[in-house]
Amino acid sequence: MKRLTIISAACIVAFSAMAQPSGPGAISRYEIDPDDRAPVTGYTLPDVLVCNDGNAVRTARQWERKRRPEIKAIYESEMFGKVPARPADMHFGLSAPDSLVYGGKVLRRRIWVYLDAAGQHKFEMMLHLPVNHAGKIPCFVALNFRSIQDSFDGTRYELPYEAIADEGFGIAVAFHASIEPDGDEYETESASVRSWYKPADEWGCISAWAMGLSAMADYLATLPEVDMDRLAVIGHSRLGKTALWAGANDERFSLVISNNSGCCGAATNARMFGETFEAIYNRFPYWFIPAFAKYSNRDGEFPVDQNALVALSAPRPVYVASASEDHWADPCGEWLTALNAGPVYELYGLKGLSEDTMPALGHCDDYGSVAYKIHNGPHALYADDWLDYIKFAKRHFCLYK
Ligand code: GCU
Repeated sequence: MKRLTIISAACIVAFSAMAQPSGPGAISRYEIDPDDRAPVTGYTLPDVLVCNDGNAVRTARQWERKRRPEIKAIYESEMFGKVPARPADMHFGLSAPDSLVYGGKVLRRRIWVYLDAAGQHKFEMMLHLPVNHAGKIPCFVALNFRSIQDSFDGTRYELPYEAIADEGFGIAVAFHASIEPDGDEYETESASVRSWYKPADEWGCISAWAMGLSAMADYLATLPEVDMDRLAVIGHSRLGKTALWAGANDERFSLVISNNSGCCGAATNARMFGETFEAIYNRFPYWFIPAFAKYSNRDGEFPVDQNALVALSAPRPVYVASASEDHWADPCGEWLTALNAGPVYELYGLKGLSEDTMPALGHCDDYGSVAYKIHNGPHALYADDWLDYIKFAKRHFCLYK
């Protein structure tokens, strides 16, 4: 209960902070329709550290043994469905000859991930690795919204391959809809993994995409030059939701980045600000399992709030990022989620966010194991955001000399 009081106080602080101009032109970006503020009060977040039987979690061991599995089971049975184990016959093959790009500094490789023995169900991934790198290479693993062919020029789609390689990181990308179709929004040949791989439990698209991210990690694990202790999963928007869920499922992702993930990602459920469960389920029912339908208009009754989803990655570092114009994704709710994941990290003697007020536009609260930033502008992942994520990853991966 004590925590809940802090939450509402922090929320009020956050909103008054939002009324302060933090730079030329900034205030208008923060202005929110006054009517939209109504649902922001009068809610409480379920305590992430209270088990289903009402007992409080006081140690990391209790968290790992009892509360974490409970929370994971809630997301599996009520929202995303289970991410199934790796298909037994999954294998890999090159889809094109390797090439050197960016003046020879970076190796580009294209790979088929064959999900079945016959290779009928496959998706393509592309890897960029810095050459002449001393030691094993830390890597980002990402889904994006473009085909591999369209992703060559990464900078056009905010995948700054060269800058990432210059910082000593590799990056593996795949087109999300080539793993599992995303409605008819993105036409593509797709492995359509859910149409043929029928685990016992239902699973929505987000779980299928999360499985794709794990399959990409499986490929990386075959490369001795990749540092499997330093893999970061990253995604934007629906793929930010997916990154959080992939991080919850696959502990090989030792750092998790959720960019503008919004509803069912990092945005607080109970605030019902911006996109709600009803809105998301009406448009994208296939991202979820049918059991999720019963929470439409009952967002605050979901058994946990999204700080629990973030905390499933603890003690691994998580970066939550918002955009000031992205009211649909509820920036303040995303920040509250990051803030309220903190108590789980504290069980491990780690710090969550450093401050209990929302950072000013363009500033990062990134000294703890949970980080938050809000960029000035629209729903997007910019090259500058990448630089902040790289900085965070370097710090947590102990890569600063
Ligand atoms: C829609 C959807 C969001 C999602 C976004 C995206 O706006 O309502 O939940 O995050 O698409 O993935 O681009």
